[in-house]
Amino acid sequence: MKLQIHQISLAYDDAGHGTPVLFIHGYPLNRHIWQPQLEGLSGIARIIAPDLRGHGESQATSGEYSMELLADDCAALLDSLSITQKVILCGLSMGGYVTFAFLRKYASRLGGLILTATRAAADSEAAKANRNNVLVQAQTEGAEKIVEDMLPKMFSPQTLSTNPALVDKVRRIMQSTSLDGIQGDLMGMKNRPDSTPLLSQINIPTLLVFGAEDQIIPVDEAQAMHSSIAGSRLEIIASAGHLLNLEQPQKFNIILDRFLRENF
Ligand code: MLT
Repeated sequence: MKLQIHQISLAYDDAGHGTPVLFIHGYPLNRHIWQPQLEGLSGIARIIAPDLRGHGESQATSGEYSMELLADDCAALLDSLSITQKVILCGLSMGGYVTFAFLRKYASRLGGLILTATRAAADSEAAKANRNNVLVQAQTEGAEKIVEDMLPKMFSPQTLSTNPALVDKVRRIMQSTSLDGIQGDLMGMKNRPDSTPLLSQINIPTLLVFGAEDQIIPVDEAQAMHSSIAGSRLEIIASAGHLLNLEQPQKFNIILDRFLRENF
């Protein structure tokens, strides 16, 4: 499905009924990473999953995609769908950074949070320098090398050796991201603010779900967020990496199912 928001065409999936849960993908991915959740959870909630601008079938714009801009797109999507009730946001990695931006600006629209494979802190100086290198690489060599360098880091060693079909599916998803999208994300992530001060103010049900073998955002980050968010629940999935929802879809769905049933 597609909608026109902020002068761009935004693609999204929308399935099921009940409490709306907005699933926000990471970099450089698209809404298709949520296919197991669309299939497994739309019986208990309304699952909405957009392609962020510049990703999948959504239109790209040039320039920086600040996390606030991407959060504004998500809020506009909810408006276009006439969703006025409180929503749960489930953000993976960069999607988690967008979730924090949404929380900063639209806290009153939120009923709960699911933070997965993400971190609250801003980029370190070393991470910013690395983003700059990748930006140069994107300009000089195109997206292909970036995708190939990043792909093995997305999974646990077990997934890499036993699930080549999944690795290939994610490669195709990543390859479909526009160069504008990749560059816009890199600039936006590099410049995002520190969300750590927000954590102690969170007073809605919050679930943290991480892969035990995440090479991009290690579980230490989860422990730190868990200890700062009062009443939060932390679940760590074994044999899963950064894309835990695809690597261990059943375990991931069981955890979300329980969180949704118990809180909403
Ligand atoms: C993501 O998966 O969204 C990114 O790897 C996050 C990041 O680069 O900080």
